Amino acid sequence: MSESGRVASRTAVLVCQGQAAADGRAVPGRFADPVAVQLLRAAERTPVDEVRAGTPPAGWRARTVYEGVRACAEVVVPRTVAIDEALRARVTGQLVILGAGLDTRAWRLHELTQTDVWEVDHPASQQDKRARLADAAQAVRGPDEGHRAAAGLPTMARSVRFTPVDFAVGDVGAALDAAGHDPSAPTTWLWEGVVPYLTPDEVRATVAALDARTVSRSALIVNYQTPSVKAAAGRLLTRVLGSSVTSGEPWRSLWRPQQMAALLAEYGMRVVSDETLLALAHTIGSPARGRISLQSGRVAVAESH
Ligand SMILES: C[S@@+](CC[C@H](N)C(=O)[O-])C[C@H]1O[C@@H](n2cnc3c(N)ncnc32)[C@H](O)[C@@H]1O
Repeated sequence: MSESGRVASRTAVLVCQGQAAADGRAVPGRFADPVAVQLLRAAERTPVDEVRAGTPPAGWRARTVYEGVRACAEVVVPRTVAIDEALRARVTGQLVILGAGLDTRAWRLHELTQTDVWEVDHPASQQDKRARLADAAQAVRGPDEGHRAAAGLPTMARSVRFTPVDFAVGDVGAALDAAGHDPSAPTTWLWEGVVPYLTPDEVRATVAALDARTVSRSALIVNYQTPSVKAAAGRLLTRVLGSSVTSGEPWRSLWRPQQMAALLAEYGMRVVSDETLLALAHTIGSPARGRISLQSGRVAVAESH
């Protein structure tokens, strides 16, 4: 728990479990995340192993967790493939990941060797990630090298700079300044799985903060959710059935593609692609049983010229 009393994001752990469950099994050659499992605690790996083996556990509560991880794996595959490919096509010297959670890109994307990465996240979530990274490094290196493990797993990126900010009350620009981000150089911004958890005003304020640090040849890759009665009903049902993962992190803003494009246009960013996860899943040949959540999630890429 952080000083503000907020606990680390549990949805970030769920996404990481989805990534680990899909690693090496979904769309070979386009999706891989061997780092994700290393960031999970032993108990969090159990449902991942069950999903990978296709062996649902007995008992209603364990089964709910299993289904959550299975469904999440289905969502993260098209999302990750689309975002990784958009990033590879737009490598700059600076990548800022907003609401990074347990994002593994700085540890797994070879294309980032000449890129400095800023991981911006809520202090509680970031503290949790850093502890997980240190433990993962220790597991790889062994207890005798514990002093080196404190630095975390070795990264692919040129550097990773942890930048704690609460988007609801903090100043993203000031935090990035303090962490050495250069506002006069092109930046690739990534905002995945975070927008629904922010109010419309917090989303606008964050875009405005990015705008102040965005020069030409920069890009923003944003994943967001559109309004969907069926998706809202599904979330409510999951909560009623007792999944506590999403209950502490309610959705606060949903955006139609035109609204997101208009918001970004206000700040000089032109959307060059915006697809549903369902369309992306079809493109890469990924299973799409959970059609509703795949239909309401989108990945948009916007460029600044
Ligand atoms: C569903 S997780 C997504 C994590 C990661 N981007 C991914 O896709 O795997 C949501 C993330 O948003 C972050 N977040 C939510 N509200 C926030 C806030 N007010 N300030 C900073 N981060 C926030 C959480 O800490 C968490 O890391």
